[in-house]
Amino acid sequence: MINYRQTIKPMTPYVPGRPIEDVKREFGLTDVVKLASNENPLGCSPRAKEAIIKSLKDTNYYPDGNCTKLRDLLAKSLGIKPTEIVFGCGADEVLAMVGKVFVNPGDECITGEETFSQYAASVVSMDGVMIYAPMKNHAFDLDAIISKITDKTKVIFIANPNNPTGSAFTQAEEEVFLKKVPSNIVVVMDEAYAEFASDPDYPQTLDMLRKYKNVILIKTFSKIYGLASLRVGYGIADENLINLFEKVRPPFNVTIQAQEAAYAAYLDRDFVRKAYENNRSAIDYYCKEMDAIGVNYIPSQANFVMTDTGYDSLKVFYELMKKGYIVRPGAPFGMDTWIRVTMGTLEQMRGFVRVVRDSCR
Ligand SMILES: Cc1ncc(COP(=O)(O)O)c(C=O)c1O
Repeated sequence: MINYRQTIKPMTPYVPGRPIEDVKREFGLTDVVKLASNENPLGCSPRAKEAIIKSLKDTNYYPDGNCTKLRDLLAKSLGIKPTEIVFGCGADEVLAMVGKVFVNPGDECITGEETFSQYAASVVSMDGVMIYAPMKNHAFDLDAIISKITDKTKVIFIANPNNPTGSAFTQAEEEVFLKKVPSNIVVVMDEAYAEFASDPDYPQTLDMLRKYKNVILIKTFSKIYGLASLRVGYGIADENLINLFEKVRPPFNVTIQAQEAAYAAYLDRDFVRKAYENNRSAIDYYCKEMDAIGVNYIPSQANFVMTDTGYDSLKVFYELMKKGYIVRPGAPFGMDTWIRVTMGTLEQMRGFVRVVRDSCR
């Protein structure tokens, strides 16, 4: 009998969105649209593709473990020191490092009830306890989070915009919140979807990092930059925090292709603008159509819209899949009648809306 750490016993493996090829095979379909994993429907920057191809010749070498070229670009562009960034194999790995750096057995961490599952994975895998604060109208209730703070609290995890609800709080709300959090508690401000936010009052968290040395800002190249398969994300925080992350970061965790693609993608502002505009048009179109059909949804600052079907989300998920659309059921997030619909191209959204209309007849 092989003994394993009992702390991982209650943990369940992450359930990703169903791959397109899988669904085609299962249902005998030729066309399947994936609106399940908040990926970029426009692909990625052509400059990033070129960079990937160019870097293939270096595949036999280990990558630069320091991500120097990408680090220097981001530092210069964001007005921060290169030593204030830690890179991860996706933002997921930076989140996993948070647990390794800060969580001792029995420590408490806090997040919201309806949010990204990897926060709990980071904490529970280190024998920590995740405390869930209630949401307010499916948005993070920052006061409820403050009220859950105890002497045992180590880390607070917040997604802004939130996954899966798409809600976001403002600069003023963030400032009030950060003022209330004791300085010995780390705040993980996960802004994986920040580039999609259209609210002019969306927070400028980078500016807050100078004042609040307990905050780590999480970013990713998986969403607006369209590089999800390459796995590159990063955290920005005070040097003293980043130095701790460097102790647990695997040495060559970002591939050469990922570094080169992220570098090129970051500089292609034209692609980023197109992705932003496509997303806004898709959200506007989708929400107008849902209003017309009479389907409830949560207004979104991200690239997906949480939609209330009124039926068992797992059944709706299955029925939509049979018709060639992969969405994300809300059940694993505790939202049993909801589905999360990633915004595709306008054409994809028109097709999806037709299917929703037909099934509402
Ligand atoms: C809120 C949030 N944070 C982080 C991530 C992880 O991103 P990455 O692909 O960089 O690991 C996701 C992915 O969906 C997410 O929704």
